[in-house]
Amino acid sequence: MDREMIVVLDFGGQYNQLIARRVRECNVYCEVHPYNMPLDRLKDMRPKGIIFTGGPNSVYAEDSPLCGKEVFELGVPVLGICYGSQLMAHLLGGKVATAPVSEYGRTEVEVDNGAAIFSGVSSKTVCWMSHTDYIEQAPEDFKVTAHTPVCPVAGMENAERGLYAVQFHPEVMHTQEGMKMLHNFVINICGCKGDWRMDSFVETSIEAIRERVGSGKVLCALSGGVDSSVAAVLLAKAIGKQLTCVFVDHGLLRKNEGDEVEEVFGPNGPYDLNFIRVNAQERFYEKLAGVEEPERKRKIIGEEFIRVFEEEAKKIGAVDYLVQGTIYPDVIESGLGKSAVIKSHHNVGGLPDCVEFKEIIEPLRLLFKDEVRKAGLELEIPEKLVYRQPFPGPGLGIRIIGEVTAEKVRIVQDADAIYREEVAKAGLDKGLGQYFAALTNMRSVGVMGDERTYDYAVALRAVNTSDFMTAEAAQIPWDVLGTVTSRIVNEVKGVNRVLFDCTGKPPGTIEFE
Ligand code: XMP
Repeated sequence: MDREMIVVLDFGGQYNQLIARRVRECNVYCEVHPYNMPLDRLKDMRPKGIIFTGGPNSVYAEDSPLCGKEVFELGVPVLGICYGSQLMAHLLGGKVATAPVSEYGRTEVEVDNGAAIFSGVSSKTVCWMSHTDYIEQAPEDFKVTAHTPVCPVAGMENAERGLYAVQFHPEVMHTQEGMKMLHNFVINICGCKGDWRMDSFVETSIEAIRERVGSGKVLCALSGGVDSSVAAVLLAKAIGKQLTCVFVDHGLLRKNEGDEVEEVFGPNGPYDLNFIRVNAQERFYEKLAGVEEPERKRKIIGEEFIRVFEEEAKKIGAVDYLVQGTIYPDVIESGLGKSAVIKSHHNVGGLPDCVEFKEIIEPLRLLFKDEVRKAGLELEIPEKLVYRQPFPGPGLGIRIIGEVTAEKVRIVQDADAIYREEVAKAGLDKGLGQYFAALTNMRSVGVMGDERTYDYAVALRAVNTSDFMTAEAAQIPWDVLGTVTSRIVNEVKGVNRVLFDCTGKPPGTIEFE
């Protein structure tokens, strides 16, 4: 397919996908590839522009990621960012060294707004810096286009050769006019039309899936969450009945959730796919009986989930492909793999190695959550599903502290449904990162209708977060909490107390277990 594309060459920086995302925000298709991809492959992609990312290395250190100078001879504009800018300088005869003063964070940069990349940008503009090396001297045929008091070359260009560089990160929000700079590069310098839209993503993905799958059979583990739902609908549009979605109801879903998923994806829903709902509640409850330890619960749920899924896959037989709704943040989290294990089995999306598939299809791998939502709307998935808040794979199993029983599931489902209903009624739902009810393992004395009670306490949680890695407790107006509390205590049998969790993450986590 003929479409304009910017290629981001990845030198190991943290914000690489963010660069791609910003380019897509300019309505230009963008892909991230390793810095050492073969030059011929890069040429074949016929990019309209190339962006070098940042990275943690020093260009002059041994084993630092380098690319050949030939990339500058392709006749395609190149923008180097941070490490990428230093690499450009280093390869083209400039001088890179350890900066006498490192710059981290918001920094005022003086730019030459006659330079194409800074067109329309204020002459003093706040940018996000993060560097210990700097370009001491630009290559001879380059013009310096930006500087700070301690960074003599915060920007440089050789406009004739289409080469541009910035020391700071235009892709992060803290660079106040970063989007303008990237727009200048992508649209004005590379000459992209900016006619790519999320519907083009959907169309292109459908074509690519058809080509890849041919007449093969595809299996999708559907959880009813946004990512797997969007992946499933995309596949259904592409290959219809060649797709089978397996939805495992482990009895740890939110109230009515199983039926809601079935309504959309089942035989009476709008999609032409094979749908299997496995009601495995009893099986899960049996395995969880008597188990209190959070990690063991997670492991049991994950393991059983895989077993059920595996059994279904075997029944269908001869499945070539497995679809997963992996999105970009999942890729980062699993890619890092160095962090301590806080909770295992974080992603029930990670499905069986034990069932053999020819290949895994991950159509959303490059998208961020909000982009997945846009694709979902494009695919006409009901808004209710598209804007669903994240729900963990182990479900209510980790929102019930201690042993899980059918009775406790009922309590937490009912309490959570009331909480969600009242929060939505108060118009607060779209503004919150995540909110839910959990069942503490605490029972306490109360009095209802002149009778002593000894019942459970429900904990309400609401957090604001953009990345779910950190979060702060959200403020829910007291009157809303009051209504929720009295409704829960009055309507949910077995509860006589409601608590609100004011803990952030850290030190807490969002879920209770
Ligand atoms: P925590 O509790 O680690 O949660 O602060 C961060 C985000 O991840 C979700 N979460 C999970 N999602 N499988 C998932 O698919 C899991 O095992 C899991 N545990 C937590 C949680 O809901 C929050 O959005």
